Amino acid sequence: MTALLKLADVSKRFDGLVAVNQMKFDIKKGEIVGLLGPNGSGKTTLINLISGALSPSQGSICINGKNIAGKRADQIARAGVARTFQLVRILPSMTVLENARVPAAFGAKAHRGSEIDRIALTHLKKVGLGDKADMMPGELTYIDQKRLELARALAAEPEVLLLDEWLAGLNPSELQDGIALIKELQSTGLTILLVEHIMEAVRALCPRCVVMNAGTLIADGPTNEVLANPDVVAAYLGDEYDA
Ligand SMILES: Nc1ncnc2c1ncn2[C@@H]1O[C@H](COP(=O)(O)OP(=O)(O)O)[C@@H](O)[C@H]1O
Ligand SMILES: [Mg+2]
Repeated sequence: MTALLKLADVSKRFDGLVAVNQMKFDIKKGEIVGLLGPNGSGKTTLINLISGALSPSQGSICINGKNIAGKRADQIARAGVARTFQLVRILPSMTVLENARVPAAFGAKAHRGSEIDRIALTHLKKVGLGDKADMMPGELTYIDQKRLELARALAAEPEVLLLDEWLAGLNPSELQDGIALIKELQSTGLTILLVEHIMEAVRALCPRCVVMNAGTLIADGPTNEVLANPDVVAAYLGDEYDA
């Protein structure tokens, strides 16, 4: 089976710093893969490269065999990739519904007219915000702002969802709700690459993990094996790690 997302030789240099160094992995349709690594190892940069927020210095990033490396973020959204941001990026002057309408209009399917509202509402309901559509984002609790960030990504109707520490900052019961929500998304066939520091969540959600250290791939395999890998353990020493 061909990979839905295929990275080959992907690098990103910032002046002298190689933030992502020849990264290479495949993700199959329907897989949920954890992207791990200590702080500063290049995870967010890699998400930025896949989603088009940044252009790679070299390498190819293919979705369904089509190379999207270096394309604009809106072109990559239309190719079926959506992401959440490590720091929530909702639009504060728009209502919850209006926030979700934007990606429905500019995402993979580029809906028009009343379809935009229908898609936006469908995804707000999916994340549990169906009754808060007319509120302003500033009136939402932190977890609801995160739900909105997720609804915005989903309203673009992606094939591949990139989650950058979406579960960070949630309290223990919210974390359980968040894990259940991601599981539900995966059960609908969505393919997910999940950057996550909370090992409880990684273990609950990801049968497979890819690990970066200093921009470089150091492990890729079944989560239990990867977390016991001495190179991975060494990379995390000195970093906050709650495995
Ligand atoms: N826009 C940028 N310009 C310069 N350096 C950057 C930029 N973005 C990230 N970096 C650097 O790249 C490295 C990887 O950062 P990042 O991808 O945010 O790591 P992670 O998400 O794994 O914590 C860090 O050293 C960071 O300082
Ligand atoms: Mg990061």
